[in-house]
Amino acid sequence: MSPRLMEDPESTQDSHSHVGSHQPIVIRQMDFDFPDDIDPVVVAGNPEESYLMIGLSLLLPYLEPYLIRTMKEAKKQIRDPKLLDDLERFSAQEGQHYRQHMRFNDSIRLQGFEKLEGLEKKLAADYKGFTKNRSLQFNLAYAEGFEALTTASARFSFEREAEQDILPAVSDLFQWHLLEELEHRTVAFDVYEHVCGGYFYRIVAGLYAQWHMSSFIARVTKYMIEADPDAIERCGGQEGMRERRRLARPDLRKNFLPKLLKTYSPRYTPHDIPFEAELQEMATHFSEVARSTR
Ligand SMILES: [Fe+2]
Ligand SMILES: [Fe+2]
Repeated sequence: MSPRLMEDPESTQDSHSHVGSHQPIVIRQMDFDFPDDIDPVVVAGNPEESYLMIGLSLLLPYLEPYLIRTMKEAKKQIRDPKLLDDLERFSAQEGQHYRQHMRFNDSIRLQGFEKLEGLEKKLAADYKGFTKNRSLQFNLAYAEGFEALTTASARFSFEREAEQDILPAVSDLFQWHLLEELEHRTVAFDVYEHVCGGYFYRIVAGLYAQWHMSSFIARVTKYMIEADPDAIERCGGQEGMRERRRLARPDLRKNFLPKLLKTYSPRYTPHDIPFEAELQEMATHFSEVARSTR
């Protein structure tokens, strides 16, 4: 957090700033548009990275409504007006995220990949089951497991060294989403601490959450690689894929892994993560291009 925001919360441009906590959580209504004939290789020359992004995008219309259901349940146990406002804003942002990702997902589905439907059905059943059968503590720890991972991923993605050539609409969708994930990075953590608490439980259930989400994304990636061998061939075949993974590894090790590992520390709190000036600029940009903000 910048010292200016810490010391003088009144100086922020939005009336929803929170004293000594974080910058405003702005709900932006966006209008992303994706072509009906979109090439699923949205990262030029990198099908496997493209499919990973598609896997994440396909996950969100199941995961984010589940987060919203979880927050609605937690809300009954919260009296703190600031935390209640945060929770409402968190849910409103998540509600916008998955709706925009559905547009991207719809355009991907037009390109075939029939077996995605089965993978999605299983995922939908998992999340329904979590809401119905698991404790609020589990569901909140799952939420924080996701949020801790997206916070680390967002920070990594905004500072990664390798430039990627991503289809502009897709790049904007993910940038907007990751930026808002950073805006609301403290909320799931605070709600978990307020309603249940418990470090070990948060870590164990959070790790399960991260495994659960990653395995869905890995299944999507694997299936899409197999379903379109031509795309892989055009990008250097298996050898090309291995080489891209090898080249990506040092950046991941240096810039992503330490951020993720820190989230498992007993001293971790997302309140310590700064929202730098560049992020503030990006937030202003997306507010300007949004259909509406509140
Ligand atoms: Fe989100
Ligand atoms: Fe989030």
